[in-house]
Amino acid sequence: MSAPRKIFVTTALPYANGPFHVGHIMEYIQADIWVRFQRMQGHEVHFVGADDAHGAPIMLAAEKAGKTPEAFVAEIAAGRKQYLDGFHIRFDHWHSTHSAENTQLSQDIYRRLSKAGLIYKKPVEQFYDPVKGMFLADRYIKGECPKCGAKDQYGDACENCSSVYSPTDLINPYSTLSGAAPVRKSSEHYFFKLSDEACVAFLRDWIDQPQRLQPQVANKAREWLDGEGDKALGDWDISRDAPYFGIEIPDAPGKYFYVWLDAPIGYLASFKAYCAKAGIDFEGFLADETTEQVHFIGKDIIYFHTLFWPAMLKYAGPFYKVPTNVFVHGFINVSGEKMSKSRGTGISPLRYLDVGMNPEWLRYYIAAKLNAAVEDLDFNPEDFIARVNSDLVGKYINIASRCAPFLRNKFDGRLLPMDGAAAADSQSLLHELRSPAAEIAGLFDSREYGKALRHIMALADAVNQYVDENKPWEIAKRPDAASQQRLHVVCSVAINAFRLLTLYLKPVMPNLAAGVEQFLNIPALAWPDAYAFLEGGHQINAYKHLMTRVDPKQLDALFDLPAAPEPKAKKTVTTPAAPPAPAPAPAAADATISIDDFAKVDLRVALIANAEAVEGADKLVKLTLDLGTETRTVFAGIKSAYAPEQLKGRHTVMVANLAPRKMRFGISQGMVLAASSDSPAAPGEGPGIFLLSPDSGALPGMKVK
Ligand code: 2FM
Ligand code: ZN
Repeated sequence: MSAPRKIFVTTALPYANGPFHVGHIMEYIQADIWVRFQRMQGHEVHFVGADDAHGAPIMLAAEKAGKTPEAFVAEIAAGRKQYLDGFHIRFDHWHSTHSAENTQLSQDIYRRLSKAGLIYKKPVEQFYDPVKGMFLADRYIKGECPKCGAKDQYGDACENCSSVYSPTDLINPYSTLSGAAPVRKSSEHYFFKLSDEACVAFLRDWIDQPQRLQPQVANKAREWLDGEGDKALGDWDISRDAPYFGIEIPDAPGKYFYVWLDAPIGYLASFKAYCAKAGIDFEGFLADETTEQVHFIGKDIIYFHTLFWPAMLKYAGPFYKVPTNVFVHGFINVSGEKMSKSRGTGISPLRYLDVGMNPEWLRYYIAAKLNAAVEDLDFNPEDFIARVNSDLVGKYINIASRCAPFLRNKFDGRLLPMDGAAAADSQSLLHELRSPAAEIAGLFDSREYGKALRHIMALADAVNQYVDENKPWEIAKRPDAASQQRLHVVCSVAINAFRLLTLYLKPVMPNLAAGVEQFLNIPALAWPDAYAFLEGGHQINAYKHLMTRVDPKQLDALFDLPAAPEPKAKKTVTTPAAPPAPAPAPAAADATISIDDFAKVDLRVALIANAEAVEGADKLVKLTLDLGTETRTVFAGIKSAYAPEQLKGRHTVMVANLAPRKMRFGISQGMVLAASSDSPAAPGEGPGIFLLSPDSGALPGMKVK
């Protein structure tokens, strides 16, 4: 065992403008596993998070919601616990960048940077909304495309003709906040001199430290430092003008820190608040040379964490410490589809919990797919079911469920010692399980969780092979003393093996491990326990089922697959578009919508280019729809009425602008229209499903209106 390390760990601070999505949860799980592993090694680890509360988007979202920004972010903060507890993510403390600690630390760091000569002011000209009385970031300006004239285009690129330009090129620009024509206006901005020679030299050195950054991340950071021409490293504009929800810049009335200045300082603010609570010397802990400061982040925010953040900390001087490591992960996709951070698509973490799925299945699955590289990982439902059911339950849990009942029923739950009669079995099997303890520890430490779990599952295979070869269920039937002794040996060895596997899996599945500790009647497992066995005579408790298998129906519920068309079916039989929403009240017969409402639905003629059954889905047909200029995949719940081969070559009508939605079998990119409700003439006798068809002559892609 190495000497205890002192480690301060953070994850990226989420914007306080929406609930967590599965991308957040993945990052927290990655960091939480690492923290739990380090603690099992006996290291001192402090793990904190916080909401990133400041900035114009949050200020405007609060305004739109009719709330103060403070009330708005407080509401978001109140929703965090259910996710963190739900997935066993155990931050020591959760804070906010809108806090006294962060104000104090941000202003302190700014003053120190200013003293170091790294802050200067210069005027910056920007668009200004004269009605709102505020400067506008590019995303709040729209206008006509200078190339093709398309209306309502953003200031950077045209969605119609794909040309790229700057906001000043827009024709008839307008503010998306007030509709007013923006004017050009100048104001004084504060800059951090990132391009300073000494600063750049420091950053090169910081980046080059072995083991600090993943090679891809270090290369990226070097590229930015080496940029030339319009890619040359610029200084950093750290101020924004009032009105702004943020922290005031000292001695600069009406100026606020740009959100990205105070966000990473929020790591320290959260730690400071935690230290006060826990009686830790905040400054002393950071000032200690041996303390490691480790940040887990996503690949989209490397720039901030490998350039601005270390530079700020370096020139703020001691007690501040430059980050020891920035560990970067990729994104999580769902069934191959990229998840948008802002739209928060993908799996809903709360729905995952609501449909009764075990949070540790997800922890295990994510861990099994994580490595130390900056690679995206894919949540694939079939793969998820296979890994949880075959590996976790089939290989690991099964060991205990097959052996523990014999111990309880025949031997009063007492184990044989691992020397004596069990020595030979223990020597061969338990030695094999124990000897890779250091190697597995190395894999966890280097965030190669996938490799660690493959290794552990290979060990579980060895244990199962041992159980299969020894067949305790057969020996148990033989009443002679030698057989009963043999049964006792086999089950005692298997339970010791199960304990070792549990120890290795504990960082990933802490709740399950706690259940095993209770069942085995042992104190909390730590890594050094890998080098000892349970003593002879140790009594285990009765085995209670530790983990169930995933029921594929739970994944259907997670992705909200359409229910079977019931006799009293819905108006259309297709894949619903939005996440589960409360069922709307039945529309009154005279309720109307405007023609504009109807025009929002983009109905198109589609040619069914292909239709196939979906393995594992009773009601779905997978349609490939030709829209003339593109093809779409749509999963339609029409299998009860149509065989796939009947559908191929037909024309139908689809909703082409429905948001894509993930289903267990893939992504559905729209829906086809079918009649299926009861006939008013024969209520209660829903006769089936009838796909709509246009008259002959209609071509794929034609608009239906
Ligand atoms: O990208 C984001 O979601 C930011 N809120 C991350 C901030 S990380 C740190 F700097 F606080
Ligand atoms: Zn255009």
